[in-house]
Amino acid sequence: MKTVLYPGSFDPVTNGHLDVIERASRLFDQVIVGVALNDDKTALFSFEERKILITQACRALPNVTVSMFNGLLVEAVNQFQATAVIRGLRAVSDFEYEFQMALMNRELNQACETIFMMPKPAYIFVSSRLIKEINQFGGDISAFVPDIVVKALKQKTGSGRHD
Ligand code: PNS
Repeated sequence: MKTVLYPGSFDPVTNGHLDVIERASRLFDQVIVGVALNDDKTALFSFEERKILITQACRALPNVTVSMFNGLLVEAVNQFQATAVIRGLRAVSDFEYEFQMALMNRELNQACETIFMMPKPAYIFVSSRLIKEINQFGGDISAFVPDIVVKALKQKTGSGRHD
């Protein structure tokens, strides 16, 4: 059975992430979405909340599960017995960081291969950071995240359109 690990912060999950998950679910027997616990970014959503949002958004994909991991990604790859790591590549600007991370991970664990997947062009400019910012100022994010995330963001920030 081929398992792939899709790691990230997912704060919150976006349609771009979901597009990558859906593509990966067609290529692998099992996709584990790994929410990183030790990310140094200040998160809006707790790990449990992120896990619930991803799980709900992926409920139509039976071979997708959501887990959390703490520490190094290469250790999570061993822990989940993953064949590879999936990362989404949106634009050339993502490339340098992703390239460096993929090579470093392979240096740390020769078995850690990274596969890059491109989301639909409609999502290449979508990021969790921008979604949070747009929502904070009452902008419409409904085209970029699933409905459950729209609701969760509105609850979290108490924001909404004020027109
Ligand atoms: O969604 P993000 O924030 O781009 O995800 C980054 C993430 C969580 C995949 C990356 O920071 C990571 O792998 N963290 C685990 C710690 C680790 O292994 N760091 C060394 C990477 S070479």
